Amino acid sequence: MTSIQHKKSPFIGEKVLLRAIELTDVPLLMKHWNTYETRIGLGAYIPDSSQQREEWVKEITEKRKKGESFIFAIINNKTNDFLGVCSLTKVNKINRGAFMGVAIYDPKDHNKGFGTDAVECLLKIGFDVLNLHRIELHVYEFLDSAIHIYKKLGFKEVGIRREASFIVGEYRNDLVMDILEDEFKKLNNK
Ligand SMILES: CC(C)(COP(=O)(O)OP(=O)(O)OC[C@H]1O[C@@H](n2cnc3c(N)ncnc32)[C@H](O)[C@@H]1OP(=O)(O)O)[C@@H](O)C(=O)NCCC(=O)NCCS
Repeated sequence: MTSIQHKKSPFIGEKVLLRAIELTDVPLLMKHWNTYETRIGLGAYIPDSSQQREEWVKEITEKRKKGESFIFAIINNKTNDFLGVCSLTKVNKINRGAFMGVAIYDPKDHNKGFGTDAVECLLKIGFDVLNLHRIELHVYEFLDSAIHIYKKLGFKEVGIRREASFIVGEYRNDLVMDILEDEFKKLNNK
């Protein structure tokens, strides 16, 4: 068995590292948060103010204290630049389940491997640190790159929430995807 000190931190990937979000991050959170291409995938595209982002940071800090949500800043390993946010939320201590989310805020940073790396870290945190049994996500069926990443990392499509989301004048389906701890362990040779 590898000694604990020689194991790689689950918070550090090949391209990104995940760290806690601070109130001082609000200007970074604001820089691209109101970008339509980013927000349209997250189900909330009405622009937010800095004050709303500050309140959000305070809310997630409270939820973190209660063990309900774990939300991290995604940081570029090489440049230390802020890239986006990823999360394990609605943590259920009886079922050991949680919901996952990820966003790389600046569209110019998309398709560079950051999202995949962040989700890989998040799965390690979910299963190896928080000892979750199941991680679920909902994704709009038109978000092809997000669905591609989730499948590549072991998520299975388990259902469709028909016309669950009303987006820019049209109802769209949401895909429900999940991954179980055994599946994660098998994929990671554990
Ligand atoms: C979804 C998101 C997190 C992906 O992050 P990213 O850093 O761009 O992703 P990566 O660069 O790691 O990987 C993108 C993958 O999608 C693939 N891809 C790109 N466009 C695609 C398309 N139209 N169809 C299928 N796959 C596509 C890329 O080839 C790449 O896969 P590969 O590494 O196997 O070649 C990012 O686009 C994002 O933040 N979008 C806005 C918020 C959002 O929609 N979040 C998801 C909510 S469920």
